[in-house]
Amino acid sequence: QWTTSSIVEEQVKRISDQIGDGRAICGLSGGVDSAVAAALVQRAIGDRLTCVFVDHGLLRAGERTQVERDFVAATGVNLVTVDARERFLDALAGVTDPEQKRKIIGREFIRVFEQAERDLKAEGDYRFLVQGTLYPDVVESGGGEGTANIKSHHNVGGLPDDLQFELVEPLRLLFKDEVRRVGLELGLPETIVHRQPFPGPGLGIRIIGEVTADRLETLRAADQIAREELTAAGLDRDIWQCPVVLLADVRSVGVQGDGRTYGHPVVLRPVSSEDAMTADWTRLPYDVLERISTRITNEVAEVNRVVLDVTSKPPGTIEWE
Ligand code: XMP
Repeated sequence: QWTTSSIVEEQVKRISDQIGDGRAICGLSGGVDSAVAAALVQRAIGDRLTCVFVDHGLLRAGERTQVERDFVAATGVNLVTVDARERFLDALAGVTDPEQKRKIIGREFIRVFEQAERDLKAEGDYRFLVQGTLYPDVVESGGGEGTANIKSHHNVGGLPDDLQFELVEPLRLLFKDEVRRVGLELGLPETIVHRQPFPGPGLGIRIIGEVTADRLETLRAADQIAREELTAAGLDRDIWQCPVVLLADVRSVGVQGDGRTYGHPVVLRPVSSEDAMTADWTRLPYDVLERISTRITNEVAEVNRVVLDVTSKPPGTIEWE
């Protein structure tokens, strides 16, 4: 029978065996998985781990400070932040296909880690790359035996073929609830361990259509309002996550004040789930939906309609791309 402390012990030993006296880079996304993976590797190799936080411009409001402040405060880990906003936007210009977006984002992450590895050369040889890949990521990227590729998770099917790093993936056999228990066992704060999932490709796969700086700004504003209202209603622990999706190529006619508008819809996608492999749409209270809708259409000029996704997984996936 696996207990959380035995998982920690076993993984720390495996990581020590794999990395030996080498050094590792860990990409932090701000999410639970990479935070727990980093904390495990830190326990195994101490300050021979350097975390890299990539600001790819596809982040939600406040995410960068949360990593720079909360995660570093909790772990004391070495952290390098890379501003790669232009790089990702350039690479995504003109791209609308979901799988292509995922592959580009996966590849650009690796290119940034390679650059970080070169910049850190003076300290030593960073040959290992730590990723917070979970079991469902592997399965849905078609990595499990006999499984179909549903979508290429940025850190599995989205990796470039010429990858130079050796991967360290201590969570590869775990589900989210186990990862959360491991995080608590390692002493990470609840604010990190109970964060709702957010995909590595970020808002890039929540804009249906081309990703541009303006569209990101619109979606970021709508997403922030939805999150504020869900938190204010005390619903954070009741829902698994609530993607907000911008239908950037769709327009509809509206009326605001005395004037006609021709704006974009956003979709609210609140879901309940145990492990993200299946999910049900969350029956949010109508008054919360109303507050989110009113605020988004009042405060985000480009959005004139808010719609609710009432599809389970399957047949829908949680994210729209
Ligand atoms: P789907 O959309 O496949 O999502 O039902 C299942 C869960 O995985 C998250 N997700 C990702 N996480 N990289 C990640 O780190 C990815 O490429 C990725 N794609 C989806 C999604 O938010 C949900 O929690």
